Amino acid sequence: MTTDFSQDAIATRAIHAGQEPDPTTGAVVPPIYMTSTFKQPHVGQPVNGYDYSRSINPTRNVFDEQLAAIEGAKHALAFSSGLAAIDVLLRSVLRPGDRVMLGNDVYGGTYRLLSKVFVPWGVNITTVDVSDLAAVNKALNSESFALIWIETPSNPLLAVTDIAATAAIAHEHGMTVVVDNTFASPALQHPLELGADVVAYSTTKYIGGHSDVVGGALVLNDDELAEKFAFLQNSAGAVPSPFDSWIQIRGLKTLPLRMQRHSENALAIARHLEELKNKGEGIEQVWYPGLESHPGHDIAARQMHGGFGGMISVQLSGGKAAALKFAESTRLFTLAESLGGVESLIEHPAAMTHASVSGTSNEVPDNLVRISVGIEDVNDLIADLDQALAAATK
Ligand SMILES: Cc1ncc(COP(=O)(O)O)c(C=O)c1O
Repeated sequence: MTTDFSQDAIATRAIHAGQEPDPTTGAVVPPIYMTSTFKQPHVGQPVNGYDYSRSINPTRNVFDEQLAAIEGAKHALAFSSGLAAIDVLLRSVLRPGDRVMLGNDVYGGTYRLLSKVFVPWGVNITTVDVSDLAAVNKALNSESFALIWIETPSNPLLAVTDIAATAAIAHEHGMTVVVDNTFASPALQHPLELGADVVAYSTTKYIGGHSDVVGGALVLNDDELAEKFAFLQNSAGAVPSPFDSWIQIRGLKTLPLRMQRHSENALAIARHLEELKNKGEGIEQVWYPGLESHPGHDIAARQMHGGFGGMISVQLSGGKAAALKFAESTRLFTLAESLGGVESLIEHPAAMTHASVSGTSNEVPDNLVRISVGIEDVNDLIADLDQALAAATK
């Protein structure tokens, strides 16, 4: 069966998948099953498999079902954070001696987990500009890899990787293809359709959407791999609580609507910032895949649907000092880590989200500021950025 990825079809699945009214009461919204355990009528015979909430919980099941349906996937597994999901993925797939091809622009925590935890256990990493097919081919000619880790758009430089082309090459070499789809969200990009084996999410971001919950998820079609993930999820136990699952169910219902507005606002802001750059007004570079000037724009336009997301990065002409001043001078944009909530955020990756990659191949420029564009009035957001830029360039 092919999945309908039109924005309308995604919106319907987001609201209805897994959301059958409660059979006992008719409650339209699935309840929060805030229970650690379940009464069994006979020894070893749990009702519908519900025995213990680390292993299985009805509220978490609803979230899993809803997320899998949006993605058109067979399996979705929810975790207590994005990194908990990534950890289970890596431990399920990798063995000592294996090598990972890691994008050279990825979330700092992913790099930290691999370099500080997995490398000492005998896993090797090679960082590659995975948005460049020639660089991927070159790396494949010199080393063999078990897994390729792609973020597209990447965090924080918004690099765009051609998922279909890269997955095709990686599969020729027997690699597992992982796409961290956190920035695009399942409303705008569908990596499994394009050949990825596993999609990873920090659901803390757009899926939760309101900066009120930390969570993660793995989404995939492969039954065997899903079984391995479920085994380690239960064995190690990094699961979301029933309440956290419920909060994410609620967030996910409005994801398509929110992504539309995030994308519209971000495109307008990116165009405005690019105009300032062209006039020489304090901006050195604007990174947003929706801009025609972005090196990955054509690929993004092909593989993303319904918008380019809400994340923009800018490099300031005045260097680090200007970047820090800019990040500290906004009034509507809140200076904070994280992204993907309804409210706009701003941060300095080199000192904040990506401090752990300082001095490595994945170091980010210190004149870079990342903004997570919320769904407020775009004119208010532009006015706020203008006054902050004026403060940073005076
Ligand atoms: C792209 C990306 N992947 C994964 C993560 C990790 O997710 P979490 O913070 O939910 O553990 C983040 C967090 O910022 C992220 O930006």
